[in-house]
Amino acid sequence: MKDAIFTLKKVDKFYSDSNERVGIFDKLDMTIKDGEFCAILGPSGSGKTTLLNILGGVDTINSGEIWFRDTRIDNLNQSQLTRWRAQNVGFIFQQFNLISLLSAQQNVELPLLMTKLTRTERQRKVAAALELVGLTDRAKHKPAQLSGGQQQRVAIARALVADLPVLLCDEPTGNLDRDTSNEVLETLRLLNKDFGKSIIMVTHDQTAQSFARTSFRLDKGTFIEEVLLACA
Ligand SMILES: Nc1ncnc2c1ncn2[C@@H]1O[C@H](COP(=O)(O)OP(=O)(O)OP(=O)(O)O)[C@@H](O)[C@H]1O
Ligand SMILES: [Mg+2]
Repeated sequence: MKDAIFTLKKVDKFYSDSNERVGIFDKLDMTIKDGEFCAILGPSGSGKTTLLNILGGVDTINSGEIWFRDTRIDNLNQSQLTRWRAQNVGFIFQQFNLISLLSAQQNVELPLLMTKLTRTERQRKVAAALELVGLTDRAKHKPAQLSGGQQQRVAIARALVADLPVLLCDEPTGNLDRDTSNEVLETLRLLNKDFGKSIIMVTHDQTAQSFARTSFRLDKGTFIEEVLLACA
């Protein structure tokens, strides 16, 4: 059996202001295996985005533990967490979040500007990431000159250019039509199967679910590991 990449132990999460308290997770236990392609399902407002933010270290929990492999991450301080995040997780959003004034290759290069890599090393990594998502011939295009699926693939290249083991995807095909969704899903499948990336994908889309091997459905504050699907 594969080792866990994320383990949540008795995680409580709520939001509160002076008037009310919104409970999201109550003693949530969950294990996601290394190298997994899993779908996170559940109704709107059930806590799917919150889960991704917790896993990615951009939101905090109220109690419990979160482990990434052998590292406990919920008690890291801000600078340790920032370093951990930069080395381990890339985010992909429904709205692509590309910078419109920058070309595809400049967008992909952004996470590398904070590293010590030389310009030549950065360019080599950017070219490899764009090749991986099948966009070598669009490197100089700006987002407005690309289709939705191509823009999302630029965002995927940006998320993986620093060679991170985990991609956290929040409805990555939510803004795309069927054909361009399939392009993006095929790219994610390639990254999972051939490059061993662990992919955790929130989605409402049944086709997207069929690309995942495991799915977790949020039910009354707890994620139920539902099915082990044969990878299509
Ligand atoms: N910063 C916040 N302050 C207060 N409540 C919040 C905050 N962020 C999220 N919530 C609440 O937490 C609940 C879960 O939100 P979340 O965004 O995780 O849902 P979701 O499952 O991703 O929904 P959707 O499918 O609509 O994207 C919602 O009721 C939301 O209103
Ligand atoms: Mg959401």
